[in-house]
Amino acid sequence: MCGIVGAVAERNVTPILLEGLRRLEYRGYDSAGIAVLDQDECINRVRRVGKVKELSDALQQNDIRGVLGVAHTRWATHGEPSEKNAHPHMCNKSVVIVHNGIIENHSVLREQQINEGFEFTSQTDTEVAVHQVEHYLKIEDDLLKAVRLAVADFEGAYALGVISKKENNRLVATRRGSPLVIGVGIGEYFIASDAAALLPVTRRFIYLEEGDIADIRTNALTIYNDKGDIVEREIKESELSADATSKGEYRHFMLKEIHEQPSCLIDILEGRFVNGQLLDSAFGIGIDGRSAVEILDQVKAVQIIACGTSYHAGLVARYWLEAIAGIPCRVEVASEYRYRKTVLMDDTLVVTISQSGETADTLAALREIKELTNLTLAVCNVPESSLVRESELKLMTRAGPEIGVASTKAFTTQLIALLMLVAALGKRRGLAADKIKTLFQQAQALPALIEQVLQNKADIDAWSEHFTDLDNAIFIGRGTLFPIALEGALKLKEISYIHADAYPAGELKHGPIALIDQDLPTIAIASMDGYEGKIKSNIQEILARGGKVYLFADERLDVSDLGENCYVMKVPAVDADLAPILFSIPMQLFSYFVALRKGTDVDQPRNLAKSVTVE
Ligand code: F6R
Repeated sequence: MCGIVGAVAERNVTPILLEGLRRLEYRGYDSAGIAVLDQDECINRVRRVGKVKELSDALQQNDIRGVLGVAHTRWATHGEPSEKNAHPHMCNKSVVIVHNGIIENHSVLREQQINEGFEFTSQTDTEVAVHQVEHYLKIEDDLLKAVRLAVADFEGAYALGVISKKENNRLVATRRGSPLVIGVGIGEYFIASDAAALLPVTRRFIYLEEGDIADIRTNALTIYNDKGDIVEREIKESELSADATSKGEYRHFMLKEIHEQPSCLIDILEGRFVNGQLLDSAFGIGIDGRSAVEILDQVKAVQIIACGTSYHAGLVARYWLEAIAGIPCRVEVASEYRYRKTVLMDDTLVVTISQSGETADTLAALREIKELTNLTLAVCNVPESSLVRESELKLMTRAGPEIGVASTKAFTTQLIALLMLVAALGKRRGLAADKIKTLFQQAQALPALIEQVLQNKADIDAWSEHFTDLDNAIFIGRGTLFPIALEGALKLKEISYIHADAYPAGELKHGPIALIDQDLPTIAIASMDGYEGKIKSNIQEILARGGKVYLFADERLDVSDLGENCYVMKVPAVDADLAPILFSIPMQLFSYFVALRKGTDVDQPRNLAKSVTVE
């Protein structure tokens, strides 16, 4: 987490850094800070607790200017959100660092540095980084060399931007385990945690590899790999436009991204489902040059690894892979998988799912598993991300930038991507071409059905009013709709701060039903998937105990026997296999409207960040 940005130019970089921070705010918003070197070679630093807005207000009072600078927006790990703990961190008013990641051996380094006479002003792990650079500067008197020696002492993950008051035209940047891009301008360079932060100033980007160190001046850029050799890294032209990351006509990014889903679902199939056939080329080419066809032919089982919402997409895929493709599948959250002693069956395709492609746990799990197999596939939204670069095959979800912290369009596009995997593996196991064709024709019909759900916004909003004073809720579903219940509960928790749990509806009677009373509402979801009779019985059991039920139901479901304590919202008729995608939309809208009524910060809910690049 945390966002970093830096610039070396011949113009005042303060507004560029501030705009970069605004665009990186999704990565953390506990505090923000900036440091620039002015024309008298003095470092001016301003830091504020809270969002970037607090920092930009402070800069209105205290206009700092300079041609070299770094800035940071923080998601607190070590040390509370306070001005002292805010980045940039500084040593002897001479060296300045911004950091994204965690220096895991910070306690050992801190002790050594205290013995050496360094004074600490914060509780952060980052402060050891700046002192370590200063320590080596005393020996080497060269910023690049000092940074190289310092990072060799760090354990953990870092993306760093470093400047020194002694070198007014030099920015040193390096990364290992945390993302960092260099923006290439004309006679100027920038660094940032992601490319979108720099779109107002450039569209040309270099993505640093693990362990790279970049020596950046206005008129020269040299990149060294982790062995110290000079390397050429390709400059890539971004297709994103600067306003791809703006809210447009919408009040929140989340609402905009919910509305983008019909077009995202069209985009993801573009050029991949052609003449009734799904093309294996969607999966790219293996790193080692093996074709997707060859790799997929080898697969006998699937292991899915992901976190949060992406994990829920994996859970849906398990139902599909086993029921439709007839292939065994296991799914696990990355934070558990990476530390567990696991047994991987031969020819298992390891599928990681991630919107950002930078989630630390998922990435670490992938790296562990690569010791055992090269059958890896990343389902991801960010083509340049570490997960994509380090996986054998990749299936891009093409959802465009997702800025709202609560994932919406990334989730539904992950589901379509996973359906493509189901078809690709299924056809190798005798899944009829006709079934695949029908599946994807129905997927192509989803955008129109989603539009219909979006038109029911006002009704969903009316329901949300019943939840504004509540502290708890239960979600239930069966089959592929159980993961959607989990996802609905997660959305409600994260943006409205209402505690919500989700259960497979059949599990209620094994304990959770004890919670049911008139103050604990249940949100149920039911499609015509063959389980509808079962879930209706579960709903009756809740109603019989005085509970209230809010049911999102396929419009074909007969609900006449459910009584007045079961409120029903009709969802357009949809094929059972595609139901998890369509039913996600009312879940998203429901949590959005509850959060709106509660007045929470929908796009940047408390304690969270979009890209979880720390453990
Ligand atoms: C919830 C949400 C998170 C992410 C999780 C994994 O709305 O967005 O649960 O799904 O942090 O992130 P990615 O998909 O980037 O690996």
